[in-house]
Amino acid sequence: MGASVPDHFEEMWRAIEPIGRADRSGGYFRQPFAAAERELDGWFVEQASARGLRLETDPFGNRIAWWDSGPSLPGVVTGSHLDSVLDGGAYDGPLGVVTALAAVEVLRERGFRPARPIGVSAFVEEEGSRFGLACLGSRLATGATTWEQARGLRDRDGVQLEEAMAAVGLEVENPQPWLGSEHLACFVELHVEQGRDLVDRGAAIGVASRIWPHGRYRFDISGEPNHAGTTRMEDRHDPMLTYAMTALAANKQARVAGQRATFGRVDTLPNSTNSVPSGVTAWMDARCESDEALAELVGTITRQAEERADRDGTRLAVTAESVSGAVDFDPDLARRVAEDHEAGDWPILPTQAGHDAGILSAQGIPSAMLFVRNPTGVSHSPAEHAEMPDCLAGVDALAETLQRLAS
Ligand code: GLV
Ligand code: MN
Ligand code: MN
Repeated sequence: MGASVPDHFEEMWRAIEPIGRADRSGGYFRQPFAAAERELDGWFVEQASARGLRLETDPFGNRIAWWDSGPSLPGVVTGSHLDSVLDGGAYDGPLGVVTALAAVEVLRERGFRPARPIGVSAFVEEEGSRFGLACLGSRLATGATTWEQARGLRDRDGVQLEEAMAAVGLEVENPQPWLGSEHLACFVELHVEQGRDLVDRGAAIGVASRIWPHGRYRFDISGEPNHAGTTRMEDRHDPMLTYAMTALAANKQARVAGQRATFGRVDTLPNSTNSVPSGVTAWMDARCESDEALAELVGTITRQAEERADRDGTRLAVTAESVSGAVDFDPDLARRVAEDHEAGDWPILPTQAGHDAGILSAQGIPSAMLFVRNPTGVSHSPAEHAEMPDCLAGVDALAETLQRLAS
């Protein structure tokens, strides 16, 4: 590490801002175990070492930088992830890591002596943008997903997770889950808000109550490849039609049920303008208020897709690639975090986005989330934003929360 250690949020934020940013869109490509994300990981290691934090790295590449002040008890951990979706925003993930480092610095400057260790975490592949499984790092760390289940996952180029990790020096030799309540007293993740509730309430900071259940479903549709000009319309078995109707059905059914469904990724073979395609693979992201509503929504969309496949003479297979059940965060912890501030309580809100905090919570680690206002609510997009004063309010809110929880 060079001589200067940026202690403060804004300096750290400016230091990482260019990493993985695309000139064309201004969005970020910070896919796991690839160059930009590894640069950020290296930056995190430097920050930990320059601050004298003890770095713990698990077999999967997840990191916790520990401030070991006080007795060796289960720690209070805060942090998030450094990877992004494809062409994502700057804030989803890194905001939680950078505010965590800054909050630790605030507490040290204040002379606070924690009664238990405080850790700053960075989990790998939270977005599932490369290997398809959301929150892969925290799932592996807690045992929610085993290494045997994950090691063979492939990215879009056919590279297996195990190979991608080995290529950056992560040889998984002892793939045991290690993160549990004997290690962590609680986990707090600060995150940019991904909606507009805080804007509507005129609040800079909020606290999460729950995460909607959500899942990713792969629709493989196969048809009959043929000539786009000479094949009569009535003779076709076109998987693109089955897919197109399914995307419309997903939108309609989600609207009718007051839930969410999105087709954001589609591949077609052979991807040729003058051919009826042989196959279409499309991925649906669905999110609902309850586990039952999610099962019902996905069931209804699948049935409509099957009916359409029958009419088109195509074949359909639906695979659930990644499903996360409803998470209700510990209500006592949420209240402890949200209430009794000089300026008033922070609002407690549900979210439709998935987070490592949800995985840890589901694995029995009391967890909470802080949200920082996002002026437009836009996220998973280059336009994602939080104003600097709100980010700094996030640092203060996190410092206050850590002080409460580690006293
Ligand atoms: C993670 O950001 C997700 O909810 O997809
Ligand atoms: Mn995200
Ligand atoms: Mn995130």
